Amino acid sequence: MHINEQLTARRNEARLGGGQNRIDAQHAKGKLTARERLELLLDPGSFEEFDMFVKHRATDFGMDKKHIPGDGVVTGWGTINGRKTFVFAQDFTVFGGSLSETHAKKICKVQDMAMKHGAPIIGLQDSGGARIQEGVASLAGYTDVFQNNIRASGVVPQISVIMGPSAGGAVYSPALTDFIFMVRDTSYMFLTGPDVLKTVTNEVVTAEELGGAKTHTTKSSVADGAFDNDMEALAEIRRLFDFLPLSNTAGVPQRPFHDTHDRLEPSLDSLVPDNPNLPYDMHELVNKVADEGDFFEIQKDFAKNILCGFIRIEGQTVGVIANQPMVLAGCLDSDASRKAARFVRFCDCFEIPILTLVDVPGFLPGVSQEHNGVIKNGAKLLYAFGEATVPMVTVITRKAYGGAYCVMAPKHLGADINYAWPTAQIAVMGAKGATEILHRKDLGDAEKTAAHIADYEDKFLSPFRAAELGYIDEVIKPQSTRRQISRALALLADKSKQTPWKKHGNLPL
Ligand code: HXC
Repeated sequence: MHINEQLTARRNEARLGGGQNRIDAQHAKGKLTARERLELLLDPGSFEEFDMFVKHRATDFGMDKKHIPGDGVVTGWGTINGRKTFVFAQDFTVFGGSLSETHAKKICKVQDMAMKHGAPIIGLQDSGGARIQEGVASLAGYTDVFQNNIRASGVVPQISVIMGPSAGGAVYSPALTDFIFMVRDTSYMFLTGPDVLKTVTNEVVTAEELGGAKTHTTKSSVADGAFDNDMEALAEIRRLFDFLPLSNTAGVPQRPFHDTHDRLEPSLDSLVPDNPNLPYDMHELVNKVADEGDFFEIQKDFAKNILCGFIRIEGQTVGVIANQPMVLAGCLDSDASRKAARFVRFCDCFEIPILTLVDVPGFLPGVSQEHNGVIKNGAKLLYAFGEATVPMVTVITRKAYGGAYCVMAPKHLGADINYAWPTAQIAVMGAKGATEILHRKDLGDAEKTAAHIADYEDKFLSPFRAAELGYIDEVIKPQSTRRQISRALALLADKSKQTPWKKHGNLPL
C-alpha cells in the first residue's frame, strides 16, 4: 500500500472512533457523533484536527489491549463565519468519552493554543467522567483542565455545550467557563447521580429531574440556555459566537448591519402605560433598540425579572441588562442580582459596552430573600457595575427607586451617559409609601393625604429632580432611544478609565 493510502487508512480508522455499532447507538439516542457535531459547528471544510492518533498509556484492567486512536476526544481549530475558534468534542463512542490522562492533555493543548492565539474555545461535552481504569491519573488530568479554564478566564471566551452525560467532577470544567448550554432530554449534569443519592440520602429522583436541561436553566441557573437537539444547539452557538470578541484584547466584532443608527420608533412613546402599576414587556424596547431586532438572550428561563443578553448597535456588540416589569414588577432579588452580575463581569472582561435599561421598584422584600442572602447577592451586582470600565449607557424608562436605583448602573457607579424618559420616576420610594412614613399623622385625612402624595409625585416622580442635579445627562423622547444610545456609544468608543493598582478585588462571592 502506498504511504498516502496507509495514512488515509489510519485516518479512517481513527474517524470511526469506537466503531459503527457504537456510532449507531449514539444516533439511536438522538445524538450526533463528536465529528458530526464539529462539522455543524464550524464553517464547512475549516476544521483542522490535532492529535488524531493519540492513545492512552494505561495498562491496568486489560487497557494495554484496548487502544482507540484519538482516545475519546476530537480536538483542533476551525472557523465560525470566518472567525477562528479552538474546539474539543468528546467522543462517547470511545470508552464512553471518559477522560484519561492523554484525553486531558489533548484538551489542555487546545486550551493553551486558544490563549496563545487569542481565540475562543468551545467544548462539546459528552462523557462518562473520569476514566475509571486510570484512577488518579485521570483526576490529575481533570485538574489540569480546570487550571487551564481558570487561566483562560477573562483572556478568551470559553463556551461549554453539554450534549450527553456530565457527571462527577466533570461538571467543574464547564462550570468554570463563561457559558454552559445544554441539549434537552439527552444531557444532564450532576455531582452525584441518582443511584448514589438513593443510597446516601434516600432521595429518589431521575437523572433528568436531578440535572437535566430544565433543572439547570430554571432552578439551579447552572446552564445559560437549552436547545431541543444537537443541530439547534450548534446553530445557536454559531449565532452567539458572532456576538463575542475573540479575546480580551481583540475588541468587539464589527459586522455589516442593515439598519440606521437614528431609526425612530414612535411606538415606544406609548410603551409605558399611564397607570404606573401596569407592566409592559421590556423585550419590546430591547428589540426596537437593537440592530435588526436581534437579541441573544442569556439565562432567559431563570430570574425572568431581569433580562441579560447581546444585541448590536451599528454592527457592534453591546451587552444589555434590563429590568422586566412583567415579572415580579421588575424587582431585583437574589437570583436576578447574581444573574446580572455575572453577565456584567463577562461584558467587562471582554470589553463589551453595557446598556442598562431601568424600570425597578426596588429590591423584592421577603424573609426568604433576606435568608437567601439578598444583601450579598445584591452587592455582587453593585460590585460588578462599579468595577466595570467599559462604556456604560443607562436609560431609565420608569421607576428607579431606592437601593435599586443605586445598583442599576447610575452615574455614581461609573455609568458614562445616563438618559431618562419623561416617564421616569427617580426617588427613594413611591409617593404613597413616602407619604405613609412622612405624614403618618395625616393618614386619617384623605384630602391631606392626597395632597401629600401629589406633592411627592410632583417633586420626585419625574426625571427632572435627578436631571437638575446632573445625575441624568438628558431627558429623551422614547422614540429616539436607539439614536441616543448609538450616539452615546460612538462618543464612548475611545473611553479609557484608570483604576487604582490592586492584585484583584474581593468580589462578594
Ligand atoms: C471508563 C466508561 C466510563 C468511565 C462509561 N464508560 N463511563 N469507561 N470510565 N467513567 C464506558 C462503559 O464501560 C461502556 O463501555 C461505554 O463507556 C458506554 O457506557 P454505557 O454505560 O454502556 O452507556 P450508557 O448506558 O449510556 O451510560 C452512560 C453513563 C454510564 C451513565 C455515563 O456509563 C456511567 O454511569 N458511567 C460511569 C460514570 C461515573 O461514575 N464516572 C465517574 C464519575 S467520578 P463498553 O465497552 O461496554 O461499550 C468523576 C470524578 C472526576 O468523574 C473528578 C474530577 C475532579
